[in-house]
Amino acid sequence: MIQSATAQASPNIAFIKYWGNRDASLRLPQNGSISMNLAGLHAKTTVTFDPELQSDSFTLNQRPIHGPGLQRVSSFLDHIRSLSGSATRAAVTSENNFPTGAGIASSAAAFAALALAGTAAIGLNLTEAALSRLARLGSGSASRSIPGGFVEWQAGTGDEDSYAFSLAPAEHWPLVDCIAVVSSGHKPTGSTEGHALADTSPLQAARVADTPRRLDICRQAILDRDFTALAEIIEHDSSLMHAVMMTSRPPLFYWEPASLTLMKLIPQLRKDGLKAAFTLDAGANVHVICAPECADQVEQALRRVAGVQRVLRAVCGSGAFLVPPQA
Ligand code: PMV
Repeated sequence: MIQSATAQASPNIAFIKYWGNRDASLRLPQNGSISMNLAGLHAKTTVTFDPELQSDSFTLNQRPIHGPGLQRVSSFLDHIRSLSGSATRAAVTSENNFPTGAGIASSAAAFAALALAGTAAIGLNLTEAALSRLARLGSGSASRSIPGGFVEWQAGTGDEDSYAFSLAPAEHWPLVDCIAVVSSGHKPTGSTEGHALADTSPLQAARVADTPRRLDICRQAILDRDFTALAEIIEHDSSLMHAVMMTSRPPLFYWEPASLTLMKLIPQLRKDGLKAAFTLDAGANVHVICAPECADQVEQALRRVAGVQRVLRAVCGSGAFLVPPQA
């Protein structure tokens, strides 16, 4: 019997970052993290299990993917097959609507959509926590793209309790992420390789040990809609992660000159009264989290900075969901 399902999921931007695993194969993080889902950007994925297929296949944005990309998807499908006791192979087709070359990390949206579409297609109806645990096995941050709105991924004690849950729905605080896409001539080191280097920095242990404090401040700032507290903690947390990256062996320097220009500009804009704060993932692009009433002014300010190629905008959004079959 052919079994098929389609799901959609968004990427997320981390406010308190996940960097470094304590178990790389299970993707158990060294520290908990908090993020916001990004509405409007998404991966839409269809999984079709077909007994006639000899092997799995993967098509991304209409291009067949082979090699390590297919291998990662196929290994993930193995987790779904083992949950359901099936050996059937699948065809996976995925479209993401992020502008190509914008350097927006897509693995969170991709594995969240794949976890939901794959389990639904094979006839499993997992709880949100179980889906988040499953998505985590594909990409750690994907665990946070399953629940909606503002999300916390608890580090947990093991595979069973390392999953994400919603702290507040998207409507709680309609924050905007203005993403300043910065020119970059090279492909940065991927996060899977980066996590493995975290412990080569002597700063990682101190960063991890201090995380419960930062999580408490960030969680409370979200619940209280306290922009000043949020701004201070997310900028501090981003710079702590980048300090670890820059002091790893070999070092990882993700910033471009325009990234640093923006990191100096944003606190200045805040002093001038705009509610805006920066955070950077494993790349040069600067995510500027801002209050909705400030988003237009922030976007204009970002566009004036030399080296900023474009500005994308996303609001806080929902978690992963199934897309009904078309009639
Ligand atoms: O989920 P991964 O392995 O792509 O790691 C994500 C790492 C960061 O984006 C840098 C931080 C985070 O918490 O999302």
